[in-house]
Amino acid sequence: MTHSAQTPPDQDALNARLEQANRQLMQSEKLAAIGQLAAGVAHEINNPVGYVYSNLQSLETYLNDLFRLTEAVDTARSLDDLRLIKQNIDYEFLRNDLKDLLAESREGIERVKTIISAMKDFSHIEEESFKPADLHKGIDTTLNVVNNELKYKAEVVRDFGDLPEVECIISQINQVIMNLLVNAAHAIDEFGKITIRTRHQGDTVTVEIEDTGAGISPDHLSRIFEPFFTTKPVGKGTGLGLSLSFNIIEKHNGRIDVDSTPGHGTCFRITLPVRHPDTGDGG
Ligand SMILES: Nc1ncnc2c1ncn2[C@@H]1O[C@H](COP(=O)(O)OP(=O)(O)O)[C@@H](O)[C@H]1O
Ligand SMILES: [Mg+2]
Repeated sequence: MTHSAQTPPDQDALNARLEQANRQLMQSEKLAAIGQLAAGVAHEINNPVGYVYSNLQSLETYLNDLFRLTEAVDTARSLDDLRLIKQNIDYEFLRNDLKDLLAESREGIERVKTIISAMKDFSHIEEESFKPADLHKGIDTTLNVVNNELKYKAEVVRDFGDLPEVECIISQINQVIMNLLVNAAHAIDEFGKITIRTRHQGDTVTVEIEDTGAGISPDHLSRIFEPFFTTKPVGKGTGLGLSLSFNIIEKHNGRIDVDSTPGHGTCFRITLPVRHPDTGDGG
């Protein structure tokens, strides 16, 4: 066979395309994460915003009554007239209820504030630098965000060890933990348990997410980190969560391991170096 002038496949061009495809995947999984975040946040904020709104309506009625009373100071012919109005507007009840309304509204707004600040912590999506971070704080923030998806599926047990600050891109680690938690919840049929276990040993820390869900069959186990591998119906799974998580952990010079017993449950373990080795390529 003669060699024609055909150009050999350009490995660099292929690599560049692969890298671009990979970036696009990361982006689409980020969007999915943001969608999840938005749905969770909408759900959690809906209730307090609902009652603060209805409290404002009561407040308006009460204020109108109070104005009626104060304006009567100028128009009433006698003190008895004033007293009558005060009785009519049920002043004692109004007074107590006003206090309750304000306290309840303040509590509602505090809840909204907490959720928004968790969201801010979570969504420094564009932040790309390695910084010492408190993983426990990241886990709690993430739990806040996915609470809505977990609470009907599992009791969440936080088995936290003593951790040093870990040099990482915390928004990305949060995203990995979120995906592992959501996967764990999806794997549980009715109601189960999800344990989050953290440990520190020497130069590394580990975070385990263990569930009492359906487990993973051996023939699937070798494929779960492949992009687009999913056993979930269209619309529920993208098959990108674990491949993205794998990339993120790899970028952190860590590793991600999985142990699963079909019918009993699954445990994912992330191992991260406490210090990010300076690779000289900017991370
Ligand atoms: N905790 C788990 N328990 C059982 N199966 C799991 C678990 N985590 C992941 N899997 C399996 O791995 C597949 C790929 O997961 P992932 O990459 O997050 O994509 P997706 O969740 O969108 O399907 C899932 O569809 C599921 O079959
Ligand atoms: Mg997933």
